[in-house]
Amino acid sequence: MANTTVDLDHALAVATDLAIQAGEQLLTRARERITPSGAQLTIAQKLNAVDLVTEADEDAEKVIRNGLKKHFPDHAFVGEESYGQGMPNNEYIVGDEPTWVVDPLDGTVNYIHLFPTVCVSIGLCVGGVPVVGVIYAPFFGAAYPPDGSASAAPSGHLFTAIQGRGAFISSDGGKSRRALPLQSPAPPIPPNAPKGCTLAVEWGKDRRDVPGGNLERKVNSFWNLAGEIGGRNGKGGMVHGVRSLGSATLDLAFVATGAIDIFWEGGCWEWDVCAGICILVEAGGIVVDCNPPEGFDPSVSSTTPIPAAPLGGRRYLAIRPCSDSPESSETAREAQDRLVREVWKRVEGVTYSRPGL
Ligand code: IPD
Repeated sequence: MANTTVDLDHALAVATDLAIQAGEQLLTRARERITPSGAQLTIAQKLNAVDLVTEADEDAEKVIRNGLKKHFPDHAFVGEESYGQGMPNNEYIVGDEPTWVVDPLDGTVNYIHLFPTVCVSIGLCVGGVPVVGVIYAPFFGAAYPPDGSASAAPSGHLFTAIQGRGAFISSDGGKSRRALPLQSPAPPIPPNAPKGCTLAVEWGKDRRDVPGGNLERKVNSFWNLAGEIGGRNGKGGMVHGVRSLGSATLDLAFVATGAIDIFWEGGCWEWDVCAGICILVEAGGIVVDCNPPEGFDPSVSSTTPIPAAPLGGRRYLAIRPCSDSPESSETAREAQDRLVREVWKRVEGVTYSRPGL
């Protein structure tokens, strides 16, 4: 479906205003919690003791939903909190019509603990593809002004993109912006990657401690990617560092900046990744399935292009933007696919699925 029916500049402007509004509301509530009178946060459990929602998530979603409805009354809306109340079977419902896909607060556990990797994520899909992405991380700016001083103006990190028009970061609410990735030209992927790469992973919410369960598969995969070369029965990847930010959205945003080389995760949802995928792809990155395809043979080298991950597939492997190799004929895309295959060699497939896909 063509994008001509939606004014993407207008969509970006509205989404940016709403992301900042919701993000600043989250920040104000956090500041209230650290005043001497100590306002409380109401927390409720969803599927288990680590799947949580606060009234701050719900209020932020209302602000965004009402704002989008006012400007785009005909567009569909999928928001983490309202979806959770109406979709017990977790069906994938993003269709071809313009659909806003929103996580009002990605990193809810962080927010509860006042850990700053928290953001608002607003994506617009047309034809099932993310075409606008806005992420606002309110705590990355002047989050905590000294006691007694006035609140700072919005200064969090704002990541934005429109399909075909590049990706940007701003720390003054979008008044001035810088293109992503941060380094231009983006460095090539090292020939011996994943050695030397930064890796972001998430522990997720499936904590069932059973043999062959997702928790065990994830931990084995982290271990393989981190272990020394020659260790782990030849799977050791010796990545430079493993990071777990507690926000899949921000993991993708940092892959778009180039600060994180690889993001490997199973279990999150379209609202966690929609805006991030738009921004990362516009910056020059790729997002594919975190599981190797059936029949994948790690000993066979291949240059067949790897398809993009479906938005709602719950399994994502993202690789940062890069340049063509100056030393060989390898293109940037071939290098990204090479790194995907190197990651697939070392991971254990996770078992997240989705009705409707
Ligand atoms: C969660 C975060 C986390 C990821 C989970 C998500 P929430 O989103 O993105 O990093 O591992 O799968 O559900 O619940 O904080 O919005």
